[in-house]
Amino acid sequence: MLSPPLLVTITLFFSLPFIFFFAPQILPPAPFTFTISDDLDDLALFTRASRAAHSVSTTSHLGTINPKPKIAFLFLTNTNLSFAPLWEKFFQGNRDLFNIYIHSDPSVHITPPGGVFSDRFIPSKKTFRSSPSLIAAARRLLANALIDDPMNQYFALVSQHCIPLHSFRFMYRSLFGNELTILTSFAFSQSNYKSFIEILADEPNLYDRYVGRGEHAMLPEVTFDEFRVGSQFFVLIRRHAVSVVRERRLWKKFRLPCVTEEPCYPEEHYFPTFLSMEDPNGCNGFTLTRVNWTGCWDGHPRLYTAPEVSRELVFELRQSNFSGYDYMFARKFSPESLAPLMDIADDVIFRD
Ligand SMILES: *[C@@H]1O[C@H](CO)[C@@H](O)[C@H](O)[C@H]1NC(C)=O
Ligand SMILES: *[C@@H]1O[C@H](CO)[C@@H](O)[C@H](O)[C@H]1NC(C)=O
Ligand SMILES: *[C@@H]1O[C@H](CO)[C@@H](O)[C@H](O)[C@H]1NC(C)=O
Repeated sequence: MLSPPLLVTITLFFSLPFIFFFAPQILPPAPFTFTISDDLDDLALFTRASRAAHSVSTTSHLGTINPKPKIAFLFLTNTNLSFAPLWEKFFQGNRDLFNIYIHSDPSVHITPPGGVFSDRFIPSKKTFRSSPSLIAAARRLLANALIDDPMNQYFALVSQHCIPLHSFRFMYRSLFGNELTILTSFAFSQSNYKSFIEILADEPNLYDRYVGRGEHAMLPEVTFDEFRVGSQFFVLIRRHAVSVVRERRLWKKFRLPCVTEEPCYPEEHYFPTFLSMEDPNGCNGFTLTRVNWTGCWDGHPRLYTAPEVSRELVFELRQSNFSGYDYMFARKFSPESLAPLMDIADDVIFRD
């Protein structure tokens, strides 16, 4: 006869496989956690990027040939790049002025778009909505672009739902100014150019997001007074791209999983908080990516559909309240919007 405690132990022991088998169906999904090995891979990449950036900044002024500065376009996606044909048109004729880098969730089967997007995929990892995996993906894009080409001077993060609102030339002129003939890459790195990143301190649910990882989880690195929010999509200058891939202190906190019911959207906080602490005067506190949050409560902005695409919509979306700058990109558009957007590409979007 077995003693009752032993019986309980044996029963528990044999039920373990069942618990493991059924637990995924019974328990809510575990919060996303960032593993040590993910972090080590990234750390090696970020160290390489930081070294590459350092060696360029100490030698670039010695060169006699000074090619024009470039814009790095960083595509962060977990589905097909439906607007690839529109972007293709955007890039046409500007071969020496841009580079493309794509971070694509490896667990999703996407169709490589070809053309200017051929061979532009960087080593990527799985991403999850409103999790630190999106911060890591954006940093991988910045690091790859820093290593790849020292002429990359602006780094524009976009998603598969973003569309261009102006021609490439217009955007290039807006970002670099009009003195392109004399503006060398070295001159640019020494100048007062600023990043375009939204940095807000007065959002109503900011405190809930601050305590999303636990009440004192962000201390002492980030006090609530230092905590900021802004759009996930930004255009950074090279100096800031380097700071971001070198950053370790805040990442230690932002990589922690959210523990509250409400999502805490770390990707909307890490970059604005870090840059506002590091170099507030080097940032324009606004983004160049237009998004419409009117009437949206579930964390998804308004999705424009094909019948809504028109010349008037493009004109309206371009308009900003930022002195001297139009919006350059807009999101989100449904994949079916491609056809009507292509119809107005030459006559409306890229005529400016
Ligand atoms: C991407 O597009 C291809 C071809 O149109 C389609 O078969 C595939 O399912 C799409 N993938 C995703 C993730 O939507
Ligand atoms: C933003 O979305 C709201 C609600 O759907 C809509 O009424 C408004 O016209 C949109 N604004 C623009 C600029 O498209
Ligand atoms: C610009 O400011 C006006 C007045 O505050 C506001 O009605 C409008 O929505 C703003 N436009 C954009 C694009 O934010």
